[in-house]
Amino acid sequence: MNDPQVVAFLQRMLPRLSLRERGFRRVRGQVRKRISRRLSALSLSDLGAYERFIDGHPEELVELDGMCRITISRFCRDREIWTALRQRVFPELAARARTAGRGNLRALSAGCASGEEPYTLSLLWEFSRPTDCHGLSLLVDAVDADLDLLERARRGCYPRGTLRELDSRCIEQAFEPIDGELRLRERYRARVRFLCQDVREGVPAGPYDLAFARNLPFTYFSEPLQCRVLADLHGRLRPQGALVIGAHERLPDTQLFRPWSDLRAIFVRC
Ligand SMILES: C[S@@+](CC[C@H](N)C(=O)[O-])C[C@H]1O[C@@H](n2cnc3c(N)ncnc32)[C@H](O)[C@@H]1O
Repeated sequence: MNDPQVVAFLQRMLPRLSLRERGFRRVRGQVRKRISRRLSALSLSDLGAYERFIDGHPEELVELDGMCRITISRFCRDREIWTALRQRVFPELAARARTAGRGNLRALSAGCASGEEPYTLSLLWEFSRPTDCHGLSLLVDAVDADLDLLERARRGCYPRGTLRELDSRCIEQAFEPIDGELRLRERYRARVRFLCQDVREGVPAGPYDLAFARNLPFTYFSEPLQCRVLADLHGRLRPQGALVIGAHERLPDTQLFRPWSDLRAIFVRC
């Protein structure tokens, strides 16, 4: 199974899953390995045989969909975004919550992997929340379509390497050693609720002050699906809530969001 064969296969199959081949260029190796294992499990000789198998067993598309999930994440990914959130976005969201007489902020992490993103938010809130946010609590809904990842997220155990972008004071205080890994302490896990959900079918009702949709819809989904997910997120965010996307992603053309002043990858819900 060589690279051009995999590309051709993905070009034919991904549209059937509302995914786009462009998103997979840099991570094709991961998908190729999984497909190769699947071919062995089904005793199929090559991708052509697999394609014919899928045509005869359309339910196999669910398996293929699972094999196309890219699960890379890490704590504090794209540090400058977290700095901007802390310095610029949190104070505004907090002020609005107070004006509305609310005692909390609600956040969504769509495609939360093993919890790295929602737990980064929890740690940021605990260790470097701006003074404007004191007295407010934070609740995070974290969704992913992958049950195994969610299970790992709930356990909250990580190899030290995944934490390398957190500062050492935070690691020392917030994690405890367990079976050769580091486990996030209960008090930091408690404000995150994990839910199994396919974001192509919708996200939880909210309403949210802040939504993360990083390195999922705007990289891997087809354009029409991106627009649908964007409309869904718009419906779940409070007016002037914040949407955060990946540092290297772009939103499709939209009237629903505008950039959060000069900040990269952060948008205001119109
Ligand atoms: C590349 S990771 C991004 C994780 C995190 N947001 C970040 O930026 O570090 C993409 C995550 O989205 C999940 N995912 C893929 N397709 C999904 C879908 N249709 N619905 C919900 N989650 C999905 C994957 O399981 C994976 O955990």
